Amino acid sequence: MRSSVLAAAAALSSAAVGANLPTIEAVGNKFFDKNGKQFFMKGIAYQLTPDDPLVDTDQCKLDAALMKTLGANTIRVYHVDSSSDHDGCMAAFADAGIYVTIDMDTFHTYILPENTSWNKSQLDEYNKVMDAFHNYDNLLGLYVGNEIIAQANQSLAAPFIKAAARDTKAYRDAKGYRKIPIGYSAADIAELRPMLQDYLTCGGNASENVDFFGLNSYEWCDPATYQTSGYQTLQVNASDFPVPIFFSETGCNVPGPRLFADQAAIFGPDMVKSWSGAIIYEWIQEANHYGLISYGPKVDPTVTGPNIDGGFTRKGSPTPVSPDFENLKTQWKAISPTGVARSDYDVKSVSTRECPKSTSGGWLVDGNVAVPTLGATLTGSSYSKVPSATGASDAAQPTESKKNAVSGSNEIAGMAAGLVGVMMIFTFWL
Ligand SMILES: *[C@@H]1O[C@H](CO)[C@@H](O)[C@H](O)[C@H]1NC(C)=O
Ligand SMILES: *[C@@H]1O[C@H](CO)[C@@H](O)[C@H](O)[C@H]1NC(C)=O
Ligand SMILES: *[C@@H]1O[C@H](CO)[C@@H](O)[C@H](O)[C@H]1NC(C)=O
Ligand SMILES: *[C@@H]1O[C@H](CO)[C@@H](O)[C@H](O)[C@H]1NC(C)=O
Ligand SMILES: *[C@@H]1O[C@H](CO)[C@@H](O)[C@H](O)[C@H]1NC(C)=O
Repeated sequence: MRSSVLAAAAALSSAAVGANLPTIEAVGNKFFDKNGKQFFMKGIAYQLTPDDPLVDTDQCKLDAALMKTLGANTIRVYHVDSSSDHDGCMAAFADAGIYVTIDMDTFHTYILPENTSWNKSQLDEYNKVMDAFHNYDNLLGLYVGNEIIAQANQSLAAPFIKAAARDTKAYRDAKGYRKIPIGYSAADIAELRPMLQDYLTCGGNASENVDFFGLNSYEWCDPATYQTSGYQTLQVNASDFPVPIFFSETGCNVPGPRLFADQAAIFGPDMVKSWSGAIIYEWIQEANHYGLISYGPKVDPTVTGPNIDGGFTRKGSPTPVSPDFENLKTQWKAISPTGVARSDYDVKSVSTRECPKSTSGGWLVDGNVAVPTLGATLTGSSYSKVPSATGASDAAQPTESKKNAVSGSNEIAGMAAGLVGVMMIFTFWL
């Protein structure tokens, strides 16, 4: 009797965490599941509600079931609430064979390209997201940010991306969590992209580097080819990359309808050895017209309700948007890369990247710039090239840290060398 109660309880609790998908880790420039099989993402960006779509189990079940017929094996969620219960949704996706990637930032903890900071309150909030999700076997990866550098003149934020990766990875390891891949999702800015992806993986200390690089790229607008789309250039820079690289957003909708012909290229002979797949932007139809499904006809945008916002219903039975949904399904159905088995994979075949020098084209981080310490801030303005520690942001700091504040100007000498007309104030709180 007692044992059958326990067995029933065990069955219930394993039902709550869903089917056990094999966990995934990053090795060299590939993802492998724990059975040694290479993993390629066929992903969907999923954000029905701004704060957290992974709290509505019934909705997740409906969406996961349709995503399964589409051929998806991954979703990307941009914001979650670490204090909510995600068991039902994570199980719904696991049961459909779908892994989850999550951005750890919230609207309040973003690393911003202006008034850039990486401080303990941000780290604590990121870590809470990791705490909330680390135990799900279908958690594939975590992002320290999405398009923190959004314009060509914002490259000085790059060292803060490494700082966030360093500290969240250190937390992961200190807690004894599995090696959940932790990386970054970048905007596709031609003047910065090759330098940014190299900087985030250079310097020879893996503890300070990203575990993967995601690229949000809308370069391929159907009809296009590998040569005409720009993917050929992306491939040059991705070849033998030190860590997995994938499209963390893709799916240009101009002029539309979308054929998703880029999927055949990404998983085809030119790219498949370098890339780990793609996440299509996005599941729900919204004003931007990137949706693969809708939950009902467009409504008057002035109408608001519990499940209606911005002129779109955000809950219910998902209905494919035609012909995009079927076009993607057809593409994915034709693609089943096997890649390489982990036992046959020589991790030393990947390159190491040089830390790029600053360029006149806009990359301002010169060489192997020291990764800022926790508590650092960066303020850019347009008239002085001399870094100075004026303590301008002291006022915002609690007294306890303030008295220990020291100038970090030495640490950024390398960065300052690449600057003309930019003043930076770095303040380190030790
Ligand atoms: C930490 O950074 C966040 C996000 O930029 C900011 O809102 C907050 O004020 C900072 N906290 C401290 C103590 O500097
Ligand atoms: C940056 O900080 C300045 C001064 O504190 C403030 O006026 C400005 O609004 C901030 N900018 C952003 C984008 O937060
Ligand atoms: C950065 O570039 C944007 C867009 O080109 C521009 O609006 C902005 O003024 C620039 N910022 C600085 C500090 O030069
Ligand atoms: C690598 O980086 C970590 C985190 O910053 C640091 O603790 C460690 O000492 C570094 N290792 C080397 C060999 O510099
Ligand atoms: C990136 O690719 C471009 C275009 O093919 C090439 O000119 C450039 O040297 C590459 N940069 C790096 C850092 O690999």
